[in-house]
Amino acid sequence: MHSMRPLFVVFTFLIGAFCQFHGNDYYNQRQNRQSSGICPQPNGTFPTGTCDGYIKCVNGVPEEKLCPDGLLFNAASGPQAYPCQYPLDVDCTGREQIQPAQPTEDCPHQYGYYKLGDQNNCGQFKNCVDGRGFVFDCPEGLAWNSETYRCDWPDQVSDCNAEAYLGFTCPPDARQFGFGQEEYRFFRSPNDCQHYYICIEGKPRLYNCGEGRAFNDIISACDGAENVTGCAPLNQGPPGRFSNQNAYDKFNRF
Ligand SMILES: *[C@@H]1O[C@H](CO)[C@@H](O)[C@H](O)[C@H]1NC(C)=O
Ligand SMILES: *[C@@H]1O[C@H](CO)[C@@H](O)[C@H](O)[C@H]1NC(C)=O
Repeated sequence: MHSMRPLFVVFTFLIGAFCQFHGNDYYNQRQNRQSSGICPQPNGTFPTGTCDGYIKCVNGVPEEKLCPDGLLFNAASGPQAYPCQYPLDVDCTGREQIQPAQPTEDCPHQYGYYKLGDQNNCGQFKNCVDGRGFVFDCPEGLAWNSETYRCDWPDQVSDCNAEAYLGFTCPPDARQFGFGQEEYRFFRSPNDCQHYYICIEGKPRLYNCGEGRAFNDIISACDGAENVTGCAPLNQGPPGRFSNQNAYDKFNRF
C-alpha cells in the first residue's frame, strides 16, 4: 500500500513556494500597517495575539504579516521554513483568533485539506490552493484521515464506516463472544479473486494480490491465479483446460 505522505510533502512545498510568490501582493497591502511591536531578535518571525498573524523582523525592523486564509502561523517552524502551515501542525493555544474565512465555490478556506463524502464514502479529499479545489483519491482501500492528513486504514479513521466503505462485513468470530485469541482472519473478496480482506478486531482491511494473482483460501496467501480454484485467467491455455477446471471445481466442492 502506498502512503500519501510523499504527495503531501510535495504539496506542502508547492504551497509554500506559491505563497512566497503570490502572497506578496497580499502582504504588500498590509505593509503600511507596520507594527510597533518590538523584535525579540533582529531576524526571524514571531507570534502575535492571533493564530494566523505574525511579525517578521529583518535587521530589527518589524513588519506585521498575515498567513493566507486557511493556514496558521507556526512559531516552531524554524528559520528556513515558510511559517504558515496547516492547522494540524500548529498549536493556537492562547491566540485562537483568526481572520474571517474567504470561502470560494470550491473551498471553505483559500488553503487546506478537506474530507469529501460521508462515513460510507471515505476515500476522497480535496486540497485547496488559492481557493481552487483539487480532488484526490486515496489509494484503493484506504480512507482520508482528517486527523493526520493521510490516507489510512478505514478502521483507523474515526468518521469512516469501514464495512460500508469497503462493502464487506467481517463474519463474527469466537473472540467477539468474549473468548479466544485475537487473530487476523483472511477472506477472499466475494467480487473477484485478486482482492482479499483481513479482519482485525472485527473490521475489514482491503488488500490486493496484484495482477495475475489470486487469494488462495487454502494457504491464506496470494498465489498464482492459475493455482487457485475458479480463478484461472480466462484467456490462457487450451480450451480443454476450462472444462478440466470446471470438473475440478465440482469435485472440490464436495
Ligand atoms: C539579518 O538578516 C540580514 C539580511 O538577511 C543579514 O544581513 C544580517 O546579517 C542578519 N542579522 C543577524 C543578526 O543574523
Ligand atoms: C503455483 O503452484 C506451484 C506449486 O505449488 C508453485 O511452484 C508455483 O510457483 C505457483 N505459481 C505461482 C505463479 O505462484
